[in-house]
Amino acid sequence: MFQRESAPILAAVLAAGKGTRMKSNRAKVLHTICGVPMVNYVISALESVGPERTLVVVGHQADEVKAVLPSEIDPVLQEEQRGTGDAVRVALKAIDDEEGVLLVVNGDGPLVSGKTLAGLVERHRSAGVGATVLVAELEAATGLGRVTEDAGVVRIVEEQDATEAEKRINLVNLGLYAFKLSEIRQALALVDAENSQGELYLTDVLEIIGRKSRAVIHRVENLEEANLVNDRAHLAKAEEIVRRRILDEHMRRGVTVRDPVSTHIEAAVEIGRDTVILPGTFLCGETKIGSDCVIGPSTDLSDTVVGDGALVEHSVGRGATVGPGTSVGPYAYLRPGTVLGEASKVGAYCEVKNTKVGAKSKVPHLSYVGDAEIGEGANLGAGAITANYDGKNKHRTTIGDGVFIGINTNLIAPVTIGEDAYVGAGSVVTKDIPPGKLAVGMPARVIRDAPEGEAKEGEAGDRKKSQDG
Ligand code: UD1
Ligand code: CA
Repeated sequence: MFQRESAPILAAVLAAGKGTRMKSNRAKVLHTICGVPMVNYVISALESVGPERTLVVVGHQADEVKAVLPSEIDPVLQEEQRGTGDAVRVALKAIDDEEGVLLVVNGDGPLVSGKTLAGLVERHRSAGVGATVLVAELEAATGLGRVTEDAGVVRIVEEQDATEAEKRINLVNLGLYAFKLSEIRQALALVDAENSQGELYLTDVLEIIGRKSRAVIHRVENLEEANLVNDRAHLAKAEEIVRRRILDEHMRRGVTVRDPVSTHIEAAVEIGRDTVILPGTFLCGETKIGSDCVIGPSTDLSDTVVGDGALVEHSVGRGATVGPGTSVGPYAYLRPGTVLGEASKVGAYCEVKNTKVGAKSKVPHLSYVGDAEIGEGANLGAGAITANYDGKNKHRTTIGDGVFIGINTNLIAPVTIGEDAYVGAGSVVTKDIPPGKLAVGMPARVIRDAPEGEAKEGEAGDRKKSQDG
């Protein structure tokens, strides 16, 4: 008993197949669920079992599949996809151990929980059998292997090989197994491809092992986990379940999700408490939202970081950073490299790219700002545009602290507007403007000092309220 308890667990994830029923140019296990490739779900679930080693059998689009695997995983190559039995043979070639448990996991069962895998291993060990298979009683069993168990012998027949009577069985194979290493090695050597698909079926070993050293079934407790993915409809169903799990988790941690039905939050997203997510919102990739924010409605953020107390409505963010207390939208587009400082604002119909906007600065309406650095407390009037691209190269625009740019101004980069300078409405700025000067015209020329006094008082935006509309 002690020996059995201490025998190592090795895991093999089968992920070499094409997934024909997906009708896709991409390998099935690479299709994502809430932003994470399907194969990574089973790999995470395996963590609960603590395998000594996890091998992933790759084949179809091997390089692409390898690229998404965590670094501690050992990929093994199945050159030709000759069936699940052959895939396990390939994995076994890479395993030297003679004693232990081999946990075999199909790569297309993303909903299986760590708890279930641990339960399967536990059952396998306590029963002291050669093989244990995870099963479920399903109303719709079509397409799956049908399972029968009788006096320690488990038989699995594939749908394609099943008789009419066997097709009426609704106990199905979920594609998760625990084997005694020595038993699976011996049994696989006996498997042939004499079946309707001409493949080496892993499922054939169950009967062989059962006759020799008994096999048992283990029923999954939560039927949700039995949602295997073979086609796009299954993919949508699995994603719906994972999406709900993610939302529930955020809600449990103190996030208000106004309309879970229309809210999509990917697996890696983080959200602080008391933040409200409004309908029609997508939060993707490595997005991180602070606390006390209001995000949405209809907002789509990827890899975007939002500070505490910020407001982002009807907007799109890609690789942007939004400072605390900052307001974005409606209808703003923040592109990669956008960094908005604390309590700043990017308002309606503005596009910002690769630009730093300083604290309390405002880009309130209808602007394009690209490759720029805006200091603190500056204000860009409606329709201010940086001409950052001359058709060949991108150039930078630098706007100092406290600068006021009038409406409908074009800033022809490279150009620097000095601190506290003013640019009159409709100007086309082709040359640097020194600090504290007022420039107007087309091209803009300096005419006198910037208005005295007001420019140094109060906050940007507030002091120029009259032109802020
Ligand atoms: C398999 C089972 C079936 C079970 C179902 C659960 C067999 C013979 N049948 O059928 O009883 O109900 O899973 O989903 O095992 N793979 C490889 N190399 C190959 C073939 C497949 O790595 O040569 C991988 C696939 O990438 C996939 C997994 O094995 O992740 C299962 O393969 P799939 O073709 O989907 O098996 P099913 O026909 O669904
Ligand atoms: Ca399958």
